[in-house]
Amino acid sequence: MSFFEQVHQCLVAVDLEDKLKRLDSLVVDWSEGQTDFLPTNYIERIADPGRPARPKLVLPKDLMRRRLGSPEGHAALMHAIAHIEFNAINLALDALYRFQDMPRDYYADWLGVATEEAYHFQMIREHLARLGYEYGDFTAHNGLWLTTYETDHDPLVRMAMVPRTLEARGLDVTPDMIKRLRAIGDHRGVEILKILLRDEIGHVAVGTRWFRYLCQQQGLNPFDAFQSILDQYFHGDIRGPFNYQARAEAGFSSEEIAWLKAMEAQTFEKSS
Ligand SMILES: [Fe+2]
Repeated sequence: MSFFEQVHQCLVAVDLEDKLKRLDSLVVDWSEGQTDFLPTNYIERIADPGRPARPKLVLPKDLMRRRLGSPEGHAALMHAIAHIEFNAINLALDALYRFQDMPRDYYADWLGVATEEAYHFQMIREHLARLGYEYGDFTAHNGLWLTTYETDHDPLVRMAMVPRTLEARGLDVTPDMIKRLRAIGDHRGVEILKILLRDEIGHVAVGTRWFRYLCQQQGLNPFDAFQSILDQYFHGDIRGPFNYQARAEAGFSSEEIAWLKAMEAQTFEKSS
């Protein structure tokens, strides 16, 4: 079976353990130089990737509010993070499956991302179990996948919208979650989120690397291209506060950082 076929099977696998096992064997084949890059005859649009029957998906407005004060709220926050990490495995697999004529390094990068997301998912899942819950016990929403689906026609748009917009948002909000977990004495939670933040910088950097590569191929100015993709595909307000240091480490240019700073100042003006 070719690499792309194997990735597809992993992406559509609904059973958690099965998906994780398939991902492991992709990595083993890769490390043994057994990977065959024959393209698939057909690239399927995937409105709904493989995921277990639970959690039940609901609209964002119907999610349970996560007040960290109660044990249930604490677990609900961990569950939300577990869901993001689970989705992130599928996001990386989709980036591998769908864009079949990228350089080899692209596949090495995204396979690495998928592997780290699986490791994050397992860590959060274990932590959730310590709190007495498992993945599926709370509701979740499908926002990340909707953007993935909407950007499945063009790797440039995908790199801009998924790693550089949605995942970059994770860099902004994680430090505050770390503070909140520290405040309730969840030491292991703090430790896990620090690992996630460190690794996610790398994932956004992978997005930046390939976004820039595609801009260069197409003779586009990366700053202008990013802006025009956001205009077209981002629904809602881009809101601060932003984690400038993490974003700079993830490859946001000084021009982009200045743009984000201007936006943050504007948000502040609006709200004061
Ligand atoms: Fe992650």
